[in-house]
Amino acid sequence: MASAGENRENAPLHVAIIMDGNGRWATRRGLPRIMGHKKGVERVREIVRAAPALGITALTLYAFSSENWRRPADEVSGLMGLLKSFLTRELDELCANGVRLAVIGETERLPADVREVLDAAITRTGGNRRLKLNLALSYGGRGEIVHAARRIAARCLNGEIAPEDIGEELFSAHLHTAGQPDPDLLIRTGGEQRLSNFLLWQLSYAELCFVPAPWPEFDAGELERAVADFRKRERRFGMTSEQIRNRTGASSAGS
Ligand code: IPE
Ligand code: IPE
Ligand code: MG
Repeated sequence: MASAGENRENAPLHVAIIMDGNGRWATRRGLPRIMGHKKGVERVREIVRAAPALGITALTLYAFSSENWRRPADEVSGLMGLLKSFLTRELDELCANGVRLAVIGETERLPADVREVLDAAITRTGGNRRLKLNLALSYGGRGEIVHAARRIAARCLNGEIAPEDIGEELFSAHLHTAGQPDPDLLIRTGGEQRLSNFLLWQLSYAELCFVPAPWPEFDAGELERAVADFRKRERRFGMTSEQIRNRTGASSAGS
């Protein structure tokens, strides 16, 4: 197997991850669920560190969904606390690794103190270029699409654009992910095979990889295996194998 950075041909540039299975990991060990989330934070650190050597330039991590607000209040506040301490403690390391932080989701629903450290981290990492790290927080794909539709409708009403101007490109430009390429690879840990309202628009042609390991066990080796598996796949985007093989300068970008 290729070791990290050895061969980046056809590597996924943008990887999205549904970090699932923290609670079950902890429960299996007789621990409170929050311990699984704590262990999960360590994996975030490891995966962010390992990603650039595999050719990954953007990582989008599903950390908290708009549906996760329905969880017991103590779990929600525990998660918010972990998020805040991660952002505070890891800021120097993120900068040292050239990580530029961004957030997607309904951030206005997050507690004010979390929003504060988040904004500070986004500002401080703004000039970094090695890895774009999008944290999906209070994120829901349907909500994001509805929000985009509302903004577009408002622009139509005030005469800035006409309905005929609305195409896929314009629509994409009104999503939280505006200006970013779609994910090439989606990984979901924890064994479930569903999207749970993650990046519904952006994942339309992503390769899907469902991993049995719960997030607290998803280490750099697991990421390397998922990337190696991705690189063996043929992405056809509606075309035939022959057309893909004949494409000059075969790139994995696919757009
Ligand atoms: C993912 O792990 C983390 C969040 C959703 C915040 P879970 O907490 O969903 O873990 P399981 O799926 O219950 O094991
Ligand atoms: C998806 O996991 C959200 C995150 C990993 C942040 P969930 O555990 O919330 O998903 P469902 O509810 O089991 O589908
Ligand atoms: Mg879960």
